[in-house]
Amino acid sequence: MARFFFGFWLALSLRKRYEADMSTSLELQKKQAALVAVALVQDGMVLGLGTGSTAAHFVDGLAARIQAEGLNITGVPTSKQTRAQAEKLGIPLAVEGDVPQMDLCVDGADEIGPNLSLVKGGGGALLREKIVAYHAKQLVVIADYTKLVAQLGAFPLPVEIIPFGWEATRRALMDVLAAQGLPQTVRVRHTTQGAVFKTDNGNMIVDVALGRIAHPETLAQALLPIPGVVEHGLFLGMAQQAFVAHPTHIEHIKM
Ligand code: 5RP
Repeated sequence: MARFFFGFWLALSLRKRYEADMSTSLELQKKQAALVAVALVQDGMVLGLGTGSTAAHFVDGLAARIQAEGLNITGVPTSKQTRAQAEKLGIPLAVEGDVPQMDLCVDGADEIGPNLSLVKGGGGALLREKIVAYHAKQLVVIADYTKLVAQLGAFPLPVEIIPFGWEATRRALMDVLAAQGLPQTVRVRHTTQGAVFKTDNGNMIVDVALGRIAHPETLAQALLPIPGVVEHGLFLGMAQQAFVAHPTHIEHIKM
């Protein structure tokens, strides 16, 4: 009996250790991808600063370069979280709410599909991320290899909706999905404390679990006309290049 429990304890410990090692190495890979993008930054650039754990590595690396080389940079954060991080690190920023023309926007992604189609919004910042990326000459995606997919949709698609009439908006969303023969699993996002998640814009997020998105353009076009839908997390034709970190190398994907 004691041997059985010891074996069980050992297996459990090894598994925990393996999981911890895996997440450390994924974190390292995110950092490596971010640092390659940091090298693209040139003096005088106006830069969109993405949101999420990978983008946070980019902001750290950017701050280090500004300090070491005295670069003259203006950052345009895509969330309050990124603004707070960049401010703390002393990165000069555009006034909150201003979105100037940018040379480059560097951001993470939840999924990277064919032709650099993306699902974004896992961190709830998809609206500001899309506005900022739209006004940048280039969107550069940084990620670890787990984000690469053959087809989008395993990650539930985040959709930002206005709180007014949200139940009606959710119903309309389900009708649109049904009309396209897609599953109608539309969940309101909550925080880990159980409160309804609020975006930086005071809106809500619904996560649409589709399993696979066979026709991203068709879906994107169908979602936006629904009153109450502010934006969705499909970023199609927006990214020009991606740096994807694998355990052994960084993959450079270019459009
Ligand atoms: C936030 C996003 C993030 O870029 C996305 O969720 C990836 O985050 P991470 O780098 O932490 O995996 O879209 O809205």
